[in-house]
Amino acid sequence: MKSKTLQHSHSFPANLEKVNPFRVMTVMHRAAELERQGRQIVHMEVGEPDFSTAKPIVDAAKEALDNGLTQYTAAAGIDELRDCLVQHYLDWYQVELSRERILITPGASGGLVLLANLLLSAGDGILLSDPAYPCVRNFIHLMSAEPQLIPVGLEQNFQPDLQQLNRHKRSNTKGLWLASPSNPTGTIIERERLEQACDWARRERLHVLVDEIYQGLHYVDDMPSVLEIDQSCCVVNSFSKYFGMTGWRLGWIVVPEAFAEKANILAQNLYISAPSIAQYAALAAFTDDAREIFEQRRVAFLERRDYMAVALKELGFRLSDNIQGAFYIYANISRFSQDSEQFCADLLENYGVAITPGSDFGDYQSNLFVRIAFTTSMENLHLGIERLRTALA
Ligand SMILES: Cc1ncc(COP(=O)(O)O)c(C=O)c1O
Repeated sequence: MKSKTLQHSHSFPANLEKVNPFRVMTVMHRAAELERQGRQIVHMEVGEPDFSTAKPIVDAAKEALDNGLTQYTAAAGIDELRDCLVQHYLDWYQVELSRERILITPGASGGLVLLANLLLSAGDGILLSDPAYPCVRNFIHLMSAEPQLIPVGLEQNFQPDLQQLNRHKRSNTKGLWLASPSNPTGTIIERERLEQACDWARRERLHVLVDEIYQGLHYVDDMPSVLEIDQSCCVVNSFSKYFGMTGWRLGWIVVPEAFAEKANILAQNLYISAPSIAQYAALAAFTDDAREIFEQRRVAFLERRDYMAVALKELGFRLSDNIQGAFYIYANISRFSQDSEQFCADLLENYGVAITPGSDFGDYQSNLFVRIAFTTSMENLHLGIERLRTALA
């Protein structure tokens, strides 16, 4: 006999219906299934560095474990780590921050959820680029707020301009959320454009949030943090990418002084604290030894970017001439297909190449774009390009 509870139909909150799964997960599951059947897959779908965490960080974690540092920490994180970040902003951006403005979070993901709770009321509109990292849109939906998408194309290096900001602003718009460098496009917002966007937002009385989680992994000389331009902005960042700590679940946010207390209360309620061992381990990320390793890895990513950009263009993909950061190329496939999901499925099934369809990142021309991640060795990238050559011949 069926239990009573099973007969009850449950309806999920309406907001949840708008939250989509990651298509890249479907690609990864299918790739794993094919690997179990003995196929060799070239992984260019993965959004994390292929390098494991640098040894100085791992050693610091072991020491923290041995010393029993396994309790909750303060909600905003351990002071030593927040002080390292104060120094980091001074060293990298010549920006002076007080420790109080920095909160350590469980990944940038935890930071984004906290900021969504801090900044949004039901019905608020938030301007976002399309394409963009998909979770951001979903966090806005979960607050019963409205993502207001600005379509950005290859011809504008996938970053919004002032005319577009003006055109897409509505009476309920409360904020502008940007990412630099961006996932999935690998492009940055140059200083001048960032200044214009901040000026515009100030005039329009909108808050600005910038996702800077790929900073460090940039291949241009000038990679501004928005905090150099406007101290009233919010920033989200992470130890996941440049610092190579995806699985440790550690990030941070920077908020204006006046928001710090409320942000702290939210942190206490949402997750109590970020993982303690990860925080103590991350202290070693600011040593010279670790920095040397990160820089070697950045150079490896740069070499891969250079190789992939040329090879993909030769094959007939259209892409930006200016991939300035992160480890992604957002490539136009219109010479081969008008259906990026089918294109990716065919490549995986028939040629053992895993890449992500544009539909994971937005609606604008998403059928014509794919994200190719150079998060695998040069040897694998060569193999991937050879397989693409055969597939597209
Ligand atoms: C643009 C962007 N923001 C935030 C995140 C979340 O990162 P994490 O929670 O690992 O710090 C990601 C992950 O890929 C991302 O690409």
